[in-house]
Amino acid sequence: MMNELSILSTVKLNNQVEMPLLGLGIYETGSSRQTQNAVAWALEVGYRHIDTAKLYGNESDIAPVLQKMSLARNEVFVTSKLWNSDHGYDKSIRAFNHSLERSGLGYFDLFLIHWPVEKLRADSWRALETIYQEGKCRAIGVSNYTIRHLEELLGACKVPPAVNQVEYHPFLYQKKLLEFCRANNIRLSAYSPLTKGEKLDDNTLKTIGNRYGKSPAQIMIRWVLEQEVIVLPKSARQSRIIENAEVYDFHLEESDRKTLDALNQDWHCTWNPTNIV
Ligand SMILES: NC(=O)c1ccc[n+]([C@@H]2O[C@H](COP(=O)([O-])OP(=O)(O)OC[C@H]3O[C@@H](n4cnc5c(N)ncnc54)[C@H](OP(=O)(O)O)[C@@H]3O)[C@@H](O)[C@H]2O)c1
Repeated sequence: MMNELSILSTVKLNNQVEMPLLGLGIYETGSSRQTQNAVAWALEVGYRHIDTAKLYGNESDIAPVLQKMSLARNEVFVTSKLWNSDHGYDKSIRAFNHSLERSGLGYFDLFLIHWPVEKLRADSWRALETIYQEGKCRAIGVSNYTIRHLEELLGACKVPPAVNQVEYHPFLYQKKLLEFCRANNIRLSAYSPLTKGEKLDDNTLKTIGNRYGKSPAQIMIRWVLEQEVIVLPKSARQSRIIENAEVYDFHLEESDRKTLDALNQDWHCTWNPTNIV
């Protein structure tokens, strides 16, 4: 476990790029105005990492906020993703260029294959390698890849993935995947870390939270951070964006961490890539 985590804590990717551990997820944050508000609130509190995707329709809502807040491009880490209908070598290159153009950001810090689309994902990965080698994004990676998908990719790639972004929370504690990623120098990134809100009433989370004066959401975020896993809570509300970042004034006791580990039910609240061949 890292000793002193802070909102500015970063981890080093396999190409030495520093990636902030805490990021704001902006899937379904509402209108452009609402999304820009959410991004601004997050940046005001000190988040320095935003997770978008073509699918979310809001890649263009980050640059205007940086400009308004007079933040330099290199002060904020931005991830976007290749959508499923854009797979294949040429289509991936085109889709990336469109995303980048739409974003107005000049470059992405990280670009991910959103989902391991059958038959086409290997060609798409070659496109990401080209994009990376041309310097249009600082790192490339994947999302929703299981160990099998990663083994296939590692066996064929020239540039290994820096990140695998997957659903990850105490009810889906993907320990084997985490260990595989660690062994292969791939950083795990946790999406839907708040179980989309579905488990926030869980009694174990509440009991542990009460001990630290923290909410179930804060307990789940801290559980991820203490594993040096990147965490991407989403909220479009200012009070929750602040709450989700107030996780740096306590440590989980070993016994509580074990109790949280034991909540695992292999339960997915988003999509499940296990059967994708
Ligand atoms: N790669 C992928 O396939 C993939 C899939 C899913 C998600 N993601 C990424 O991960 C991010 C987060 O995942 P997610 O959006 O699925 O869900 P999530 O972060 O687990 O949960 C978001 C839900 O929890 C609520 N919430 C947030 N903070 C809260 C708090 N402190 N107390 C109570 N409720 C709270 C939000 O409502 P309000 O907004 O109303 O506060 C929203 O309904 C996404 O935005 C996206 O960037 C990636």
